[in-house]
Amino acid sequence: MNEVKSVKKRKGNDSFLVGRVIKYDRINGEEPVEGIKLLFIAKTRLGFSTRKLGAAETLRDGRFSLPFKLRNARRWSNKRLNLYLFEAERQLENGQFTGFRSIMKFRIPKGYLIGMSYNLRDIHLNGSTTEAKFHLDHNLIVKKVTDAGDSVWRRRVEKFLLWFYSKLFAWVIALGLSFPKQERMSHNNGIAGRGRLRIVDNPEFPEHEFFQPGREFPIRVRHASATFLDDAMNCIRSIAIKFADTRFESPFDLQMNTGAWSLFWSAASFIQFAWLRREAWGVEYVEYNRLYPEGLEGGQKAVRRHASSFANLHYYAKTPFLFIGKDGVKRYAKYRVIPMEDEPETGIWDNPSDWDMSNQRVLPHETRGRNFLKYEYEDRIKREGARYRLQIQLREASENDGPEIFNNMLLWSELQYPWMDLAFFEVNEMLDWEESTLTAFSVSHMPKSLGILPAKNIFDYNSLNYMRSKSEIARKARNFSYKVFGMVPPIPDNDNRNVSGFGE
Ligand code: HEM
Repeated sequence: MNEVKSVKKRKGNDSFLVGRVIKYDRINGEEPVEGIKLLFIAKTRLGFSTRKLGAAETLRDGRFSLPFKLRNARRWSNKRLNLYLFEAERQLENGQFTGFRSIMKFRIPKGYLIGMSYNLRDIHLNGSTTEAKFHLDHNLIVKKVTDAGDSVWRRRVEKFLLWFYSKLFAWVIALGLSFPKQERMSHNNGIAGRGRLRIVDNPEFPEHEFFQPGREFPIRVRHASATFLDDAMNCIRSIAIKFADTRFESPFDLQMNTGAWSLFWSAASFIQFAWLRREAWGVEYVEYNRLYPEGLEGGQKAVRRHASSFANLHYYAKTPFLFIGKDGVKRYAKYRVIPMEDEPETGIWDNPSDWDMSNQRVLPHETRGRNFLKYEYEDRIKREGARYRLQIQLREASENDGPEIFNNMLLWSELQYPWMDLAFFEVNEMLDWEESTLTAFSVSHMPKSLGILPAKNIFDYNSLNYMRSKSEIARKARNFSYKVFGMVPPIPDNDNRNVSGFGE
């Protein structure tokens, strides 16, 4: 799919309608249909005009990837978005067609377009094509779309909506989950320890007043599995590092998950991700995974079902942050944590299907216990401790930077922007369950010169970190719930499996 995209991608287009057009044959099964033309248009709310948002044609394997600009498709004045399919009529000797006739029309739900790809999956032109045929409205006048404006008031409204949705989301989590259920939004199933971190003595990265060579910090590190309370389930694993041995206050925190790619890329896509979770008995994100191929792929690359230890996984912060060093040059930074010694990462599952991804339940006849990863980590810390490398990837800001450099679904080239050792750290003492549960992290715990990047609206890639920075109320509500209802008990070894909430 990525190849098709790179061919089709045109300047300014940041989103795609993707799918496959096929015919079904009783004997041969599915047959891809090449050469079907697709036209994506918007009918406007006021007046009768119709805007062309994009066009494409199916390839030999029946696949299409129709590029369009999200901002143009989502504008308020578009009342309805339709995708039309056309097939060629009779072919003349000179290879030209006598014309094209419309054969199908799809309504595309505007609210479901959140950037990256929207997957229409398989479109069947089976035996009933003649019945499916219809005529494109006679009076349809397709105008080339003019770019959605960027006036001052529009920017203000968009910024306000970003603030509003971020606050609303945080309050929904705080009042719906953190306080009544005493849960983190995710990553409840975790365990923390303390240790020390030392910035490397001979940095390869530009001088920075916070990351002074050889500077040492007492630290807290929390490992967790998102989102289920069962280590043997197919989960994303995490590490969070606090540059202080405290429950919350700190000069610098980092939160990272396994997998170099993310499962979402903006506030809009994160809200959709949360909305479409629809979890039941360990099965979740069925619709999200079907609609958003990049989200599915991010998940496939991030889950670690049978990791043998938290200590041998690779963790990525994914979103870029600011980095202004002593030279005053503006740079962007990405962070990751890998084990100190070069050892293979465990738990990687090659090419799981979308169903494997949604079904995160423990495997039938599973022998691993609910807490096996946490016990392994505790034993390891008592025995020898766990040592890690914190690494940084830096790129200089440039006037020519497009928004895609902030997209956490696209990796920065490691050849151009190599990972450099930033610090080495070690965990050598475990915290008990209560202290682990009370230890929390914040994306706002960073010096100004290393903070989060500004975001303009809910589709801005940097809106992910903006949203996180506004979610503080969720942690406060959770901490308050412990005062009101008491501390949640440790996750029992012998209770229901495949659950994500305490006491389920
Ligand atoms: C790529 C982006 C993200 C990454 C890598 C990430 C990572 C993490 C990690 C590792 C934790 C667990 C930390 C711990 O052990 O306590 C966490 C918790 C949390 N995250 Fe995210 N996160 C991301 C995006 C978001 C977004 C967009 C939001 C939206 C508000 C969010 C809200 C939260 C909340 C509310 C918690 C629990 C806070 C608490 O109750 O202590 N995260 N995240």
